[in-house]
Order: sequence, then C-alpha cells, then structure tokens
Amino acid sequence: MDSGTVNRPVKGVLATIGNTPLVELTSLIPGFGGRVYGKLEFFNPGGSVKDRSAASMILSKIRSGELEPGRSVVVESSSGNLAIGLAQICRYYGLRLICVVDAKTTEQNLAILRAYQVGLSMVSEPDAETGEFLSVRKQRVQELMAEIPHAYSPNQYSNPLNPAAHERTMAEIAHALDGKVDYLFCSTSTTGTLNGCAAYARAQGLSTTLVAVDAVGSVLYGLPAAPRLIPGHGASVPPALLDPAVPDRVVHVSDLDCVVGCRMLVQREAILAGGSSGATVSALRRLRSEVPDGATCVLIFPDRGDRYLDTIYSDGWVITHFGEATHLWKDDDVEV
Ligand SMILES: Cc1ncc(COP(=O)(O)O)c(C=O)c1O
Repeated sequence: MDSGTVNRPVKGVLATIGNTPLVELTSLIPGFGGRVYGKLEFFNPGGSVKDRSAASMILSKIRSGELEPGRSVVVESSSGNLAIGLAQICRYYGLRLICVVDAKTTEQNLAILRAYQVGLSMVSEPDAETGEFLSVRKQRVQELMAEIPHAYSPNQYSNPLNPAAHERTMAEIAHALDGKVDYLFCSTSTTGTLNGCAAYARAQGLSTTLVAVDAVGSVLYGLPAAPRLIPGHGASVPPALLDPAVPDRVVHVSDLDCVVGCRMLVQREAILAGGSSGATVSALRRLRSEVPDGATCVLIFPDRGDRYLDTIYSDGWVITHFGEATHLWKDDDVEV
C-alpha cells in the first residue's frame, strides 16, 4: 500500500469534521464545456455540512469556558442536520442538549436524536394564525432558556460562528483547485454556508461567481412564502444572518427540480445525495449556457440521500406529488 495515501489516526470523532472530498463529476452534464466538482459534505461524521456549524458554535464556547461539560445545557430549535451535528458534539463532551422539535419532524431524525440521548421538547400545535411551527418553537426555546440554569442557545440563524465555520469549507475547495473556482453553487437556509464561503472568497480576492440556490417558496431572495415539500434548504422567515448582497446570482429551484437533480446525480454519478444537492445540480443545468468553456464549477452537496428514501427516491411519493411530470426524472436520455 502507498503510505502517502493512508490517513493517520486522529483523536476522537470530531477530528474527522471537515476535509471532505472534492470529486470531479465527469458524466453529470453530457456535452458541458466546464468542469464540475461536487464537495461531498455528507462525509462529515454526523452526515452533513452542519457538523461544521455545530462544531464552530459549540467548541469555541467550551474553549472560552462559557460551556461547561456536566453543567451547561444547550437548547436549540432544530430537528434536522444541525440537531444531529449538535447531538454528536454534545454527546462527545457530555453536554446536555435539548432540541425543540415539532410534529413535522421525521421519525428517523427523532430516532437518531434519541440514540444520541438528546432531550426532545415536542411542539405539537402550530401557531393558530399562521399555521407555522417556527414561531411556537422559538417561543419554547425562550421558555426553556428562562427555566433551565446554565442554558445556552447557539441560534444558528443569527450566530456569526455559523458562517465562520464555512470559511474553511471554501478554503478547502480553493486549495484543492489551486484557487481556480469560477462558480460556486450553494443551497441556502440560514445562509451560513454561503456567507462563510463568500467571506473567504472575497478576502482571498477569488473571482468566484457565488450562486445562491434557494427553494421556490422560500423568502430569502424576494419570492413570497409558499408550501415546500423538501426539508433542509429554504426559509419561511428571513434569518438575521441573511445579506441579500452576498450572492452574485440567485437561482430558485422547485421541489421537482430537486428530485430531477437528485435522480440525475445517482443515475449518472452514483452519488445518493439529499434534496438540496439535487437543487444545485438543477441550478447548474439552468445556468449552463452562460458558463464559459473551461470554467470550474463547484456544487456543495450538504447531505446524503439515505434520509430521503421515502420521498425523493420513492417512485410512489414522486408520482403522488408530481405525477404529470414523471418523464422528467425517469428518462435515461433526458435532454439537459
Ligand atoms: C440539507 C441542507 N441543505 C442546505 C442547507 C442550508 O445551509 P445553510 O443553513 O448554511 O444556509 C441546510 C441547512 O440546514 C441543510 O440541512
């Protein structure tokens, strides 16, 4: 075995956060004149890009002494990838974590959080006026913070340590490509990933075109709120971190665009990824005619597809929701 390619042992699972693979995708878009790379963030140990945000928001507080294992309690309104990232870090350091979740949280995510011994505070009734759970969840966090001594809420929507984590995400991409990153396609929710990548790119003077990939029905970049099926990306309320001036381009993708992108990714590149990864594939297809030959395009793939088997990768689910358009995701030779 070539010892140059062997990873040396590291101390503890958290040391494996980051340094995710960057993979060239040669079959994804036939005839495309640019080079396409996927940043496989699902290689993080908790399974998503949010491991980086969680580590950033918790580790600095442990180092500063503000969070004390055995004493402090972390409280966050999250039932998705951030919750799992926090669960891993809090378990590792023996910090108690309470996640405020709601009736829409998937059974699988609840099971994962229970496995990490996370305390779950379930919000079962949405806001009577809006029908949304978000405001009720925020209220519950405030109540828990007031009740529990030594409580800390990271609040990923406003915490600058969230985007700060992703300066390294972009640094990894830039170093791997010797600084030649012409386009970065990044899905958005808190906008932490995009803002952190942008901060690094601008500070280093990279000429990268930053493409925010948002969901149709998300309010981040000027569209009205509307129901969305695919979790992870998009936001129903603008987060404090949002700076609409950060992206050079914004592409809105529908739920069906995510399905089509995900199905292409698995069919053509054997990568089983989550909905927001498929979103970036669809966004690149949308902009392909504008991308000059030879340009380098990087797509960030935030999580893997296993948690979407009952939705995006279920033919029954797709037919139920998008029946008429099934040719778009079934045809091997689909025109791109
Ligand atoms: C699957 C997935 N994609 C994209 C995002 C968006 O990332 P950010 O919150 O950094 O904008 C998230 C955020 O939780 C996510 O879970």
